[in-house]
Amino acid sequence: MKALTWHGRRDVRVDEVPDPTIEQPTDAIVRVTSTAICGSDLHLYEVLGPFLDEGDILGHEPMGIVEEVGAEVSHIAPGDRVVIPFNISCGHCWMCGQGLQTQCETTQNRDQEMGASLLGYTKLYGQVPGGQAEYLRVPQAQYGPIKVPEGPSDDRFLFLSDVLPTAWQAVEYAGGEDIDSLVVLGLGPIGDMATRIAQQRGIANVIGVDLVPERNARARAHGVDVVDLEGDDVVAEIREKTGGRGPDAVIDAVGMEAHGAPIGKLAQNIAGLLPDAVARKLMENAGVDRLSAMNLAFELVRRGGTVSLSGVYGGTADPLPMLNIFDKQIQIRMGQANVKRWVDDILPLLGDDDPLGVDDFATHRVPLAEAPRAYEMFQKKEDGAIKVVLSP
Ligand SMILES: NC(=O)c1ccc[n+]([C@@H]2O[C@H](COP(=O)([O-])OP(=O)(O)OC[C@H]3O[C@@H](n4cnc5c(N)ncnc54)[C@H](O)[C@@H]3O)[C@@H](O)[C@H]2O)c1
Ligand SMILES: [Zn+2]
Ligand SMILES: [Zn+2]
Repeated sequence: MKALTWHGRRDVRVDEVPDPTIEQPTDAIVRVTSTAICGSDLHLYEVLGPFLDEGDILGHEPMGIVEEVGAEVSHIAPGDRVVIPFNISCGHCWMCGQGLQTQCETTQNRDQEMGASLLGYTKLYGQVPGGQAEYLRVPQAQYGPIKVPEGPSDDRFLFLSDVLPTAWQAVEYAGGEDIDSLVVLGLGPIGDMATRIAQQRGIANVIGVDLVPERNARARAHGVDVVDLEGDDVVAEIREKTGGRGPDAVIDAVGMEAHGAPIGKLAQNIAGLLPDAVARKLMENAGVDRLSAMNLAFELVRRGGTVSLSGVYGGTADPLPMLNIFDKQIQIRMGQANVKRWVDDILPLLGDDDPLGVDDFATHRVPLAEAPRAYEMFQKKEDGAIKVVLSP
């Protein structure tokens, strides 16, 4: 089959690889019909190379048709239309029972001291072959796959794999219905969807911040009050819009490659030039994140407010503004999205009236063969690319 594989920094290719097969009785094989590129894939493309091997198949936002199931998989059958969550979880351990599927005790990567395995996401997370491919082996398929109805286009359901539950969890961790004002930093797919969900959940004052004109315009078009990151004084502007106090909560939907952090960028560039083993040590022992979005979140949020981090961070030794965080009594919540936990909350919003605008959410749909160019376009934010979906 054809699959999108990693070969080095900013070097992904569509290669011919062996078809996946059932390896465990809990596996399923899915023929992929749509598979999206995520901001998290951009971290693999640029920064996280030391944790990948040449030939690793990327992708964690797939959906398709079940081809085959293992003996222990009974809730889906060949021919069913399914969306595959990006996290791989068992559904029966203690953590899954708490709704913490990202910490699943069956798929936790204890050798790496990391949480549940993820599709297509480095040695830290199990090095499981990903879904930007014609076929996908789905581990723990007795639990993970979400069966969706025939009829609407793939786009209606595809974002259940990641964008929708991630954005839902970001808003939930920000305080959900209990807050009146929310700032969302970053208006990529995650941030943009978080603003839509916040509006649906009745948060009165939703403010978005990005620096890419078409991303700002897209959020503005659905009623978000947008502040341009490149404006004169973002902090003062947002204070003024939030009664002088600052917002109840801030979502960071940017992560480790934030704009405006020259030292972090330098560290990431240096890490990119080192042999993998040395680079891994550097990333573990020194700060390589670009923390400008996270620090802006701490600065913006009102005293006693909440910072909800969706953006992925990777370094371990980055200095945090502890004085500020402690003194302002800020609450922080974060993590990969526990996909299955939020599916039942989200499904009612995926009807024909399409209140979240998922049908038109993707800006580009391209054949899998053109994925390398699509990665480049998405990373450079060319051609108005905000969300790119691949058709295998
Ligand atoms: N927690 C999870 O489960 C989960 C799931 C999916 C994605 N993510 C992470 O969420 C983040 C966003 O993902 P995405 O797909 O929307 O990616 P993206 O790269 O398209 O979006 C990031 C946006 O942030 C903007 N930005 C950069 N620096 C900024 C700054 N200092 N202030 C404000 N905006 C800034 C960029 O212009 C861009 O529009 C990534 O870090 C991704 O890894 C996390
Ligand atoms: Zn993703
Ligand atoms: Zn589990």
